Amino acid sequence: MDFKDILEKRRAINYFDPDRDVDETLLRAVVESAAKAPSSYNLQPWKLKVLRDPARKAELRALAFDQPKITEAPVVLMLLADRDGWKGGNATLESVFRDFVKSGKMQADQKEWFEGVTQGLYGRDAEAVQAFANKNAGLFAMSLMYAASHHGLETHPMDGFDHDGVRRAFGIPDNYWIPMLIAVGHLKPGVTLHPRNWRQSYDDMVLG
Ligand SMILES: Cc1cc2nc3c(=O)[nH]c(=O)nc-3n(C[C@H](O)[C@H](O)[C@H](O)COP(=O)(O)O)c2cc1C
Repeated sequence: MDFKDILEKRRAINYFDPDRDVDETLLRAVVESAAKAPSSYNLQPWKLKVLRDPARKAELRALAFDQPKITEAPVVLMLLADRDGWKGGNATLESVFRDFVKSGKMQADQKEWFEGVTQGLYGRDAEAVQAFANKNAGLFAMSLMYAASHHGLETHPMDGFDHDGVRRAFGIPDNYWIPMLIAVGHLKPGVTLHPRNWRQSYDDMVLG
């Protein structure tokens, strides 16, 4: 599918077919395509929790304004933005640094310098840390939704949920913010989508 068609096709759909699953191989392909998303210093400060179990999804739905798509979609992804992703010792950062060394982009003895740079850029204060985690996770989320469209799937991003309630119920460690949930599945047969909501034009967006 042409990328322009993917941009047109992706919608936040409200009605998922509860009888049509998304198998593990397909989900893996979507997530691994989305992993090509860009990130600050390639630090990729994001993780996912994959929810398929009906009881767990029901628990999540109750914490998310009872949105039916959470239980109707076969898969709900909980996106986790890692506020520790800039810190030395963080497993993903360590892998990123190893890769920089392996590919000759950095020398092994530059680790301290590298950690100083990531701290200066992303770990200055709580606001910078929150921005770092969420802007990067947002880019991953968008890539994931386009990748899902490419693979013939529908999605719906949601931030209408009780953040602290979800954190407690699912045992999410403090270093993660939960920017959104993403329901993934297929459109319920017979459902017609509403026309697309209003979008800003070029002139609306560009400030003088
Ligand atoms: C971060 C984010 C959070 C959202 N949260 C919700 C939500 O909790 N419930 C909901 O019904 N829609 C939610 N939406 C969907 C938006 O309302 C929808 O994307 C927007 O109206 C544009 O429609 P479209 O995606 O079909 O083009 C969310 C979208 C984004 C990007």
